[in-house]
Amino acid sequence: MQVYLNGEFLDQKKAAVSVADRGFVFGDGVYEVTRVVNGKFFQEKEHLDRLDEGLRGLKIKLRSEIRDSIPNISRELIQRNGHAEGEATVYLQVTRGAAFPRTHTFPEPEVPATVYLSSGPFKPHKELHEKGVDVITVPDVRWTRCNLKTVNLLPNTLARQQAKEAGVNSAVMIRDGVVTESPNANIFAVKDGTLYTFPASNYILNGITRKVIIDIAKSLDIPLVTEPVRQDDLYELDELFFTGTTTDVQPIVRVDGREIGNGTPGRIVKSIQQEYNSRLYG
Ligand SMILES: Cc1ncc(COP(=O)(O)O)c(C=O)c1O
Repeated sequence: MQVYLNGEFLDQKKAAVSVADRGFVFGDGVYEVTRVVNGKFFQEKEHLDRLDEGLRGLKIKLRSEIRDSIPNISRELIQRNGHAEGEATVYLQVTRGAAFPRTHTFPEPEVPATVYLSSGPFKPHKELHEKGVDVITVPDVRWTRCNLKTVNLLPNTLARQQAKEAGVNSAVMIRDGVVTESPNANIFAVKDGTLYTFPASNYILNGITRKVIIDIAKSLDIPLVTEPVRQDDLYELDELFFTGTTTDVQPIVRVDGREIGNGTPGRIVKSIQQEYNSRLYG
């Protein structure tokens, strides 16, 4: 398997970043994961726009020639790895670069950003999409700039691990009594035929899939309200589901051991799944 690192394609086993890299030392970087179906990058521009937003948010300067070459690098990478056919994902990470000695303030003089891309085969979680998943609620202990897709994922990994140890698939995160999102997906709820999702703000990652789902809701004439769902109302919902690049549209059928709706994927999530699949694979 080959990866791209700072201007070259090389064997994944030989790829190495400096111990002084600020991604390693501070988690000072951003990332993106893009779905690729038979060589076609799904929502590529949106992912690159969000990368730009993250770089701006962290004040990381990425040379424009490098930024503009990301689509070509991604294509070359999937070709080299045999991922241009079938399903794959491309992972992209940009950090502020390597600087020694360690200082909290940005390196002076500036250092080149570290740019890393890898690709891998992908298998959609079909069984989970059909049956739905069980989740637990956990406190959302993240910082208040969750709109930036940074590599600082410790609260997210700890929440996923907690879910795993509880014997369920994932978690629903709660901040100030309302549902924000999951450690790696956005959340939509259905009550009396209306769709609810947390507003795009600094408290959630504004998912690329979330935006596609909002567009699908419009096209299917499903009323949508961008308001958070209260934890107190969670167990009374008709439907609940996750959305994300590698999650797709995944129904949630149990929260904290209590059934959502009748404990099986509902009508609205199924219609959204169908339309989402036709956009992804169409
Ligand atoms: C915290 C969080 N929220 C939401 C999402 C979904 O975003 P997207 O649809 O862009 O994959 C992700 C994806 O990794 C995530 O990490």
